[in-house]
Amino acid sequence: MITIIAATNRPNSNTLKVAKYYQQQLKIKGVVSNLLSLEHLPTDVLNTDMYGKRSQAFQKIQDLINATDKFLFIMPEYNGSYPGVLKVLIDACSFPDSFYDKKAALTGISSGKYGNIRGVDHFTGVCHYVHLNVLPLRLHIPNIKTELDADGNLIREDTVRFVNEQIGKFIHF
Ligand SMILES: Cc1cc2nc3c(=O)[nH]c(=O)nc-3n(C[C@H](O)[C@H](O)[C@H](O)COP(=O)(O)O)c2cc1C
Repeated sequence: MITIIAATNRPNSNTLKVAKYYQQQLKIKGVVSNLLSLEHLPTDVLNTDMYGKRSQAFQKIQDLINATDKFLFIMPEYNGSYPGVLKVLIDACSFPDSFYDKKAALTGISSGKYGNIRGVDHFTGVCHYVHLNVLPLRLHIPNIKTELDADGNLIREDTVRFVNEQIGKFIHF
């Protein structure tokens, strides 16, 4: 089972728009996926779900993570890296079974010039630590405001082509 993780809790994020675009493209290829937006982490997750504690709300997320064998992380660039809320998710999930020997594809987006190159690299290190195998084709989408139309579709031909290639490789990964 594939789960797409929109790796920010910012309302109306471009990350969620891109995540929905990926979900739609997977569907066109006949692959059903789940979408987890980190907006839906329990609001008090730092107090209720870290270091051995577990709320009912987070248990549902943990169950989804357990049932997933391929993760597609869409992660925005925040202060030169990936959002802290993504690391909270990883740290709150049970270890090592949540991600061990599973697979992931990573895509970075940013409003600036670099498409979260550093954040994707930083998160790749975390993936390796938890034994989550990363698809070699990692994508970076800079200047995200020029990439999406009003319906949340990617509009630049080269970006659409790279996303399509990444999704194809991820399905067979
Ligand atoms: C806390 C925060 C830090 C950010 N830091 C960066 C940054 O370091 N580089 C950059 O290009 N954009 C930065 N941005 C802009 C985001 O890349 C931009 O909002 C983009 O749309 C992706 O984030 P979103 O999914 O929240 O919309 C930052 C945005 C926020 C909210």
